[in-house]
Amino acid sequence: MRGTHGWAEVSRERKREIIDAIVANTPTTGPVHAELDLTDRCNVACYFCNQQDLRTKEQIPIQKTTELIDELAATGLRSVRLSGGGDPLFHREINDVMAHLAKRGIVVDNLTTNGVALNHDIAGYLVNNKAREVIFSLNAVDAADYARMMKVKPALFDKVITAIKTLVEVRGDSIYPSIVLQFLLDRSNITRILEMYDLGSSLGVDRIAMNAVLEIPRERIDRELLLRPEDADLTEPYVEQVLRKDAEAGLLQIDFAVYGWNKMMDRVRARAGTVSTNMYPTAPSFRDRNDGCFFAWYTAAVTGNGDIRPCCLLLNPDVPPLGNVHEKSMSEHWRGPAFQKMRDEMREVLLRGGKVEYDPKRFTILKEVCVKPGLCWLKNMYFRVDEEFYAELDAKLEKVRKKEVRWLGTPKQIKRRADIYLYDHPKVKDLVSGDRLRRTYDWLRDSTRPLRVALKRHLHINLTDAA
Ligand SMILES: C[S@@+](CC[C@H](N)C(=O)[O-])C[C@H]1O[C@@H](n2cnc3c(N)ncnc32)[C@H](O)[C@@H]1O
Ligand code: SF4
Ligand code: SF4
Repeated sequence: MRGTHGWAEVSRERKREIIDAIVANTPTTGPVHAELDLTDRCNVACYFCNQQDLRTKEQIPIQKTTELIDELAATGLRSVRLSGGGDPLFHREINDVMAHLAKRGIVVDNLTTNGVALNHDIAGYLVNNKAREVIFSLNAVDAADYARMMKVKPALFDKVITAIKTLVEVRGDSIYPSIVLQFLLDRSNITRILEMYDLGSSLGVDRIAMNAVLEIPRERIDRELLLRPEDADLTEPYVEQVLRKDAEAGLLQIDFAVYGWNKMMDRVRARAGTVSTNMYPTAPSFRDRNDGCFFAWYTAAVTGNGDIRPCCLLLNPDVPPLGNVHEKSMSEHWRGPAFQKMRDEMREVLLRGGKVEYDPKRFTILKEVCVKPGLCWLKNMYFRVDEEFYAELDAKLEKVRKKEVRWLGTPKQIKRRADIYLYDHPKVKDLVSGDRLRRTYDWLRDSTRPLRVALKRHLHINLTDAA
């Protein structure tokens, strides 16, 4: 069984609650899923770590952690992802945290760890409590490369290999947890992907994930190490070898978020006769207009210093937190102004069917990645297969769109409709964005205001919200 960002644990009623709360623009009872990055402490120092600028030496004390878990469980939390700003297993009381999660019946949907601290006890917990997925971020293929990438003594590599073997052994015939081995590819190790594959398959894991090292906030990574579009041709023979080798076993999940590499992958797949393994299928009821994020009704992430953030992709030093669990209860945050603002912004994107330009003045919580279509892979990758959910969401959202997005209505309703029109007609948009037209529009709006108010008051013709 694989991790699903908690979606597999969400009941039909909770899904309906989410849809109805989107429609009504109200909060749900509480997050159904949470990412708990309980510690910022780490036992290695990866050169590429995307958390290095957020990292403190803090962790949420165990007393506070258990209170938080109790509170979240009481408002309907069903599952967690344990990951980090540091390493989740480097939390000083990780055994107590896990025991408390189990006591409250909360499923570990995913544990993402460098694996250094995974011992027999933790392996036993993960198997006995049916954790859904464990990702080992091994990243490197041998001890020397491990030392280069993680900036630690080479001997730690063998420790992680032992940890992986321990979990595979303790799991035995159980299907829980699914074990994923992750390698990170840069310009120094890209030619070694066949060795990586062989290591993964010899360890008996369920999936071998190969991802590119990506640029991090504040651009700290040596540019010489990052894969470039023009490296695709050089890499092609190695990718072909590994795809051919995996043709039968189907263990490989290879994904290059590097511009221009998709074409190379398509070419190689065609030659090797392997199809792109679409790991995340889409339900027939899924419509692009409903592609927007609904995390503000579903989940939240808490980091080692107690900060609350929308998701792991916005664990970024340049994105302000939504609050802090040490300030007030999670429920107060969930119902408070920052989460409500995030809901307002997400709802706008949903109402406009994604046809909205990102403007930092309009979106104060969401970032471009959340608004511009096709940039965020996380927001519904695991959910879009859910036929029933997307059918219901679509039916209910379409009704709301008819009411709240229209040419004849309040300025807000008209603005939404006009935004969609301009999005669909970029040439008109260029014209309208000219200063003169904008001034004409403002003049028209101001000068017709008394008339619109009068129509509303006396004839109940609602062309304005200015009463
Ligand atoms: C920040 S780590 C936290 C959990 C744990 N310490 C670990 O390394 O698995 C979460 C995941 O992000 C990946 N990651 C970190 N920085 C990255 C980068 N610059 N590019 C791609 N993946 C990255 C790590 O390899 C890891 O799988
Ligand atoms: S193990 Fe994870 S948290 Fe630690 S430095 Fe590496 S990527 Fe960052
Ligand atoms: S759209 Fe993506 S980055 Fe933005 S909040 Fe949702 S999951 Fe996070």
